[in-house]
Amino acid sequence: MGSNQTKVVSFETQVLPVDTTDLGKFVDRETLEKWELPKDTSRVEPLQKAANLLKSSNIPVGFPTETVYGLGADATRSDAVKGIYKAKGRPSDNPLIIHVCDLTMLRGLLAPAKLENGDVDTATDPIPDIYKPLIKRFWPGPLTILLPNPTPSKLAPEVTAGLPSFGARMTDSPLALSLIKLAGVPIAAPSANASTKPSPTQASHVLHDLNGRIELILDGGACQVGVESTVVDGTCSPPVVLRPGGVSMDEIRECPGWENVTKGYKDQSQLGDAAPRAPGMKYKHYSPKAKVVLFEASSSKDAKIGVEGPTMMPDEGLKVHKARFHKEPHLGLELLDRPFRIGIVRTRHWQQWAGLNYVVRDSASPDMVKIHPRQDSIWGHAKISSTLSHRYVFTKKSPTFQVTAELIEISLGAETKDIAHGLFSALRDLDQENVDIIYVEGIEDEGDIAAAVMNRLRKAASVIVKES
Ligand code: TXA
Ligand code: MG
Repeated sequence: MGSNQTKVVSFETQVLPVDTTDLGKFVDRETLEKWELPKDTSRVEPLQKAANLLKSSNIPVGFPTETVYGLGADATRSDAVKGIYKAKGRPSDNPLIIHVCDLTMLRGLLAPAKLENGDVDTATDPIPDIYKPLIKRFWPGPLTILLPNPTPSKLAPEVTAGLPSFGARMTDSPLALSLIKLAGVPIAAPSANASTKPSPTQASHVLHDLNGRIELILDGGACQVGVESTVVDGTCSPPVVLRPGGVSMDEIRECPGWENVTKGYKDQSQLGDAAPRAPGMKYKHYSPKAKVVLFEASSSKDAKIGVEGPTMMPDEGLKVHKARFHKEPHLGLELLDRPFRIGIVRTRHWQQWAGLNYVVRDSASPDMVKIHPRQDSIWGHAKISSTLSHRYVFTKKSPTFQVTAELIEISLGAETKDIAHGLFSALRDLDQENVDIIYVEGIEDEGDIAAAVMNRLRKAASVIVKES
């Protein structure tokens, strides 16, 4: 290694499976005052190992939450927090969310209320009233609230990236709550992906991105929600949603004091020069290696991409794809001297293969891509790893054309919950398949966590097709 190169320390990364049954509970679920470890301490043995690392090491630990996997470190120690930025390759001006196991731990991070004479007012709760209805309804759960960071603060300054506030979250994962309890300190944790990549929803995703960069990943299975927490700020008026996530704006609006909550984030298609208020929202994000072409719901509803029957490719669809391949040279596909590999992520309306049944290059005009109606005789059909994924492979070549594309499809289903749950995983699976381009069928983003799904997709997309 040359002297001008940074020395990369590499670790043996261990993935430790955790049985997630009976990992603890709240003493009183109404108050969320105290998280209690299981009586049988053998249940939390793997967690104890992770907690010991959190306490003593500066290398972060991968662990599951109900939203996505997190990369955790002791939020009170600067060196430990710096370890997160280092492992992820994350810009240090992007603050981290603080995970607490109960409200007692959260209160310990806030400035106590004071009496007029300057004495501590033990009768007044330091948690601002505005958050009470949200905590009651959504915690433990996929919601992060911004709170004033007191001076002096117990949190390492690196956690907040110099901001006067910090984001706090109480996850609904008993595994994570017990891990925090065992560590005895609040845990700073961003999503455990390499910076810019889709968030990890399985331990294998974390291993893929951070292998050799961290020592331990706790494997608690696939995350239920699949998109990150909603980030809200109630310290301003009106309160704002800074990042859409697992709790919807409609649900938040139903809480007292939150009726006028506004959208404080912009999707990629609306981004101007204004600095985003959640610093993380300005970076390229959630991106697989392949170029993502997102079809907004408005475009996917009409027959732009194969909502017709499987044997008829409507002219409309053909036009769209010629445009994609030829008029948008930045996609780079025209430079490929091998068949394209096209990934398709279907949701509600697209038919199988998004109508791209049979893609051939005409040998008479090799710069043209033709998409023909499917001819079953020349397509084979094989299942790959995931039960949701299918792929078409050519089984025969004809002398009149060259193969120009291979299709790999993942169908996420029509339910928003299932789409959110499977989205990041689908983008990662298609990356593993080395696709060149991914066509994604968008969904209407009003109301529920569809807003979070579309927000992530718009950030991942190189091209957004609205109408054409
Ligand atoms: O579901 C989740 O929230 C996951 C799991 C692991 O808990 N965590 C997560 O963290 O998504 P991360 O670091 O990937 O995203 C945190 C977001 C970023 O957009 C960041 O800018 C914003 O929250 N954020 C954190 N602290 C903030 C603060 N004080 N002010 C404004 N935005 C803040
Ligand atoms: Mg993240």
